[in-house]
Amino acid sequence: MTKQRVQIPENGIAGETILEQLKSMKSNDVPWRSGKVFGYTYEAAKEIEEVVYKAYLMFLGENALDPTVFPSLRQLETEVVTMAAELLGGNEETTGNFTSGGTESIMLAVKTARDYFRDVKPEITKPEIIVARTAHAAFHKAGHYLDVNVVVVPVNKETFMADVAATEAAITENTIMIVGSSPSYPHGVIDPIEDLAKMAKDRGILCHVDACVGGMYLPFAKKLGYDIPAFDFSVDGVTSMSCDFHKYGYAAKGASCVLHKDANLRRYQIFTCASWAGYSIVNPTVLSSKTGGPMAGAWAVLKAMGQDGYMEIVDAGQKATQHVIEGIEKIPGLYVMGKPAMNLVAIASSDPAINIFELSDAMKAKGEWGLQVQLACDDAVEALHLSINRANVPHIDDMLRDLVICIAELKNKPEEEEAFAIAPEVIEGMFANFSPEMFDSLEEMLGMGGDNPIPDKFAFINNILNSLPAKYRKVLLTEFVNRLFTV
Ligand SMILES: Cc1ncc(COP(=O)(O)O)c(C=O)c1O
Repeated sequence: MTKQRVQIPENGIAGETILEQLKSMKSNDVPWRSGKVFGYTYEAAKEIEEVVYKAYLMFLGENALDPTVFPSLRQLETEVVTMAAELLGGNEETTGNFTSGGTESIMLAVKTARDYFRDVKPEITKPEIIVARTAHAAFHKAGHYLDVNVVVVPVNKETFMADVAATEAAITENTIMIVGSSPSYPHGVIDPIEDLAKMAKDRGILCHVDACVGGMYLPFAKKLGYDIPAFDFSVDGVTSMSCDFHKYGYAAKGASCVLHKDANLRRYQIFTCASWAGYSIVNPTVLSSKTGGPMAGAWAVLKAMGQDGYMEIVDAGQKATQHVIEGIEKIPGLYVMGKPAMNLVAIASSDPAINIFELSDAMKAKGEWGLQVQLACDDAVEALHLSINRANVPHIDDMLRDLVICIAELKNKPEEEEAFAIAPEVIEGMFANFSPEMFDSLEEMLGMGGDNPIPDKFAFINNILNSLPAKYRKVLLTEFVNRLFTV
């Protein structure tokens, strides 16, 4: 039976009906306001959220395509960026732009480095950036889009910080940028920024610090007296940073910034085109036409929260994180990877009987807990990632209790439900001849496809992915998502 594809209705539908339909679509989403989902969303107090949403809506129709036409947006953008620069150890030379998210900020930092070196060192025809295995995938994406080679170096096996010696060994005459994370997302640890930045400066290379997740958190943790190493522009040699407002800034989504220590470098970020028949394009960021909503929302939240508001949440976050770490240490078979500097914790299993992916599914079934899975990668074993946010704080003891219950249940489950793993020798054979049709049988095994494109349980597929080399994970994941967006 061929499926009826959705079309624009012949006649317009009443607004009320439409809004009802939209509301009902949300019913299968993760219950993100429950406080039981450790990631994806970032909630401040209700009254702050209201200000942000109103500010966002107030500027939804304005277009940041041309700052000379909408001076209000230029003002909002420069003020938001300046507030971030001040927070992150910048000086009067520090400048930047508002972007749609961490990924865009990172892509622009990489583009800036690429175009700067094209200018000053045209002999570099195959530019390279050096990133640790724990650096965000956005650097790989930037390399992919911008034709910049991404050289990955290992992290320390105990601390999960970027390995300074390995970074040094990876530098070649093509290196244009060294990347450090403040902190890295997977384990919440801050890379040795001082060492990386010095190494870059000594060799005339740029150094980017990715503070997408930490930029609106670490400065306040430091002010509160928590033990936070140097991580920002105050470190000599750091040339650019990325910092998201839509994470621990509590802005509505679509809000980040890329910052340059030296305003001269920003020139290389801008794309200008006056060689077509229309209006001149001068874009400091990826998008051309874009709503002013996110920047108005970000401006509003920074003002509404104030430094005292952020410090209050960060203090609660740091204490809750310590509580989680201590709780995990008391659960036999689980441990926390590395020593998180902030509220991002990776929990791994030291007991072969505790399969981390099954634990994630079991926790979801037990109490709609949302614990994000991380596949194993080099020395970083598979893990459950928890971003311990404001809304999660009251639920931590319940979460720890359910972890203990779920582990006991998993250990008692019958043999035939044991975790799935593919023998490495089978993998090569399978993937050497991989065709999209092969995915059909996998879909069937997972009970997916047709009206049910998203499986209820992910342990099966995660175990398969985890046992595959990265190049084959990519094949499966691409095929999965290619199908997901087919109606
Ligand atoms: C350290 C870090 N960098 C970059 C990003 C990418 O940010 P976005 O999802 O806003 O593109 C994230 C997202 O979690 C992150 O944690």
